[in-house]
Amino acid sequence: MAPEYTSDGPEATEALGRGLAHLLGPGDIVVLRGELGAGKTTLVRAAARALGVVGPVTSPTFTIANAYDGRVPVAHLDAWRLTDPDDEEMGLALEAVPDDAVAFIEWPDAVLHGLPAPRVRIDIAHGGGDTRVVRLDGADPGMDASLEALCDDLRARHRNA
Ligand SMILES: Nc1ncnc2c1ncn2[C@@H]1O[C@H](COP(=O)(O)OP(=O)(O)O)[C@@H](O)[C@H]1O
Ligand SMILES: [Mg+2]
Repeated sequence: MAPEYTSDGPEATEALGRGLAHLLGPGDIVVLRGELGAGKTTLVRAAARALGVVGPVTSPTFTIANAYDGRVPVAHLDAWRLTDPDDEEMGLALEAVPDDAVAFIEWPDAVLHGLPAPRVRIDIAHGGGDTRVVRLDGADPGMDASLEALCDDLRARHRNA
């Protein structure tokens, strides 16, 4: 079962991103779905920080791919602008992503077929106001268990805050 986490504001989504970062390693791909303003970039920015990226982490909506040097290479892609899976721009953007990067991809549907299977799939839905319902789906039972433990930990910390 894919764990679900209810975020009540940007800080909670950032905490989730930080926790997620600790479960990822070189070559892992994370795909993020959800409407504009759901919080995909907010989550990725926090994860990138936790992976050691210093400096601004901005939305790659117009650049398609941003690459960073953290403790591991970090790539942040946004394929929102692309509709054709064989889009040449996307091909070029993917070439800029090192194989050993932790890669976060927003709006992945146009590009998924050319990529290794994602390690984590994230779906963020608006729940009214600042509430966001975040579904996390791991590629295997081990990852699902880690994601579940992460969500439990965040909920416990939230209660005690
Ligand atoms: N619970 C929440 N989680 C994430 N972002 C939130 C939340 N509540 C409000 N926001 C706001 O929603 C916006 C999310 O923007 P962004 O992360 O760029 O979304 P996306 O990349 O999905 O389009 C930000 O302005 C953020 O401050
Ligand atoms: Mg975004």
